[in-house]
Amino acid sequence: MSKKITKICCIGAGYVGGPTMAVIAQKCPDVKVTVVDINEKRIAAWNDEDLGKLPVYEPGLDKVVEEARGRNLFFSTEVDKAIDEAEMIFISVNTPTKTYGKGKGMAADLKFIELCARQIARVAKDDKIVVEKSTLPVRTAQALKSILHNTGNSPAGKEGGVQFDILSNPEFLAEGTAVEDLHAPDRVLIGGDNPEAIQALVDVYAHWVPATNILTTNVWSSELSKLTANAFLAQRVSSINALSELCEKTGADVNEVARAIGTDSRIGPKFLKASVGFGGSCFQKDILNLVYIAKSYGLNEVADYWEQVVLMNDHQKHRFADNIITTLYNTVSGKKIAFLGWAFKKDTNDTRESAAIHVADYLLNEQAEIVVYDPKVTEEQVYADLDYLNTRDEKENRKLVTVVNDPYKAAHEAHAIAVLTEWDEFRTYDWQRIYDSMLKPSFVFDGRAVLDREELEKIGFEVYTIGVGG
Ligand code: UDX
Ligand code: UDX
Repeated sequence: MSKKITKICCIGAGYVGGPTMAVIAQKCPDVKVTVVDINEKRIAAWNDEDLGKLPVYEPGLDKVVEEARGRNLFFSTEVDKAIDEAEMIFISVNTPTKTYGKGKGMAADLKFIELCARQIARVAKDDKIVVEKSTLPVRTAQALKSILHNTGNSPAGKEGGVQFDILSNPEFLAEGTAVEDLHAPDRVLIGGDNPEAIQALVDVYAHWVPATNILTTNVWSSELSKLTANAFLAQRVSSINALSELCEKTGADVNEVARAIGTDSRIGPKFLKASVGFGGSCFQKDILNLVYIAKSYGLNEVADYWEQVVLMNDHQKHRFADNIITTLYNTVSGKKIAFLGWAFKKDTNDTRESAAIHVADYLLNEQAEIVVYDPKVTEEQVYADLDYLNTRDEKENRKLVTVVNDPYKAAHEAHAIAVLTEWDEFRTYDWQRIYDSMLKPSFVFDGRAVLDREELEKIGFEVYTIGVGG
């Protein structure tokens, strides 16, 4: 008989921890779920009465939080207390790419994970199941186990000491559809070596996920599957983006090519949308991780193969920016370029690794003036993203970049419009009104192939659509 879980704690109230725990609480009213975070502002936002102020924007998330919060879903900064009472602890803190030392720019920085492990070891007075939710390089569970069993209340080998079981339960939700993905996951993956601990977590998900959709594996397979899933998905985007450039040269249309190949059931229709480049907190980080792991085993060909997916993505962002410069008569200096979209995809306020940041940086190096409009991203975030690159000082970024909350204002007297995110609302704008307020000739660079090119050309725009030749 596996242990019945009545109290869960999750460390990390971010894009993964927040929505995942909210849905677990919604679907398991008999389980108390406490989400803790060291960031007080974030926790306060999760507790805000105004559901419009939740720190993560996801369609449908407000309803889930409204249903469960205060009933069996709690957000708190009292990390020790939550660890102490829980039988099962999820670790969902961030694992950014290292910016220093060995593996710089490639390996995952596991310092937050280690801190969590040490804290759990220090606080735990009874047996715990520790679940890795953060995406981690293969064999991190080993490090976790070692820290948990050698520090705090469980000295190695000590009779009656606290026992820890480590499970890997990677998250496959995509931002923008997180709630949908959590409600009806293609599969839930649980890796572990103790069948009882595995069953305890299976029982949690079995509240709403059919048994056939819950896969169990050993820990290493589970950890590696997460990196592999993201590498395969990103590879499809880089593959179609590679073809988008060839389409532009030959007069083909990448959207037609995608439709044609997507009807082959072996290939399938998803993840074949050409774009200005993939972004998000996972794709690049996870592939670089895979590359680093392969290299560390001396598998250089394997490493090169996957690294090319990231290199292709960098190329796609640069060539989009280059094309803007070339088309605007080889100079954008002092020219106003309106950015529609800053988030890395639609229906999220997340901007991590968004293509928009890199395209903007490239154009700013050419002294362009950029005006940004995104339906969900704040001015503060846009500046933070640019400052983080450290290409120019903060004052310069604020001088060259303006953030507005009205798309028509963004387009006013602009030389060009660049579409960086595929927000639905962009299609329904009054494009005649936009055209009338822009400088002539008025250019549109559609990096997501979302606008009606024919209609825009009829109005008088000069239109470039990613992947469409002629
Ligand atoms: C992160 C990783 O990026 C992803 O690889 C992993 O799969 C899940 O965790 P995300 O939830 O999007 O994804 O990250 P983020 O929104 O940055 O949230 C992490 C949270 O952990 C932050 O709110 C941070 O304050 C918190 N944290 C970090 C702690 O509470 N304690 C720590 O020691 C470190
Ligand atoms: C991804 C994985 O899909 C998810 O399973 C994992 O848990 C986390 O990483 P996410 O980063 O939220 O999710 O978004 P995703 O929908 O995968 O998109 C990633 C990027 O690829 C976005 O910038 C998106 O615009 C781009 N993309 C996606 C394309 O350019 N074309 C496509 O056809 C699909």
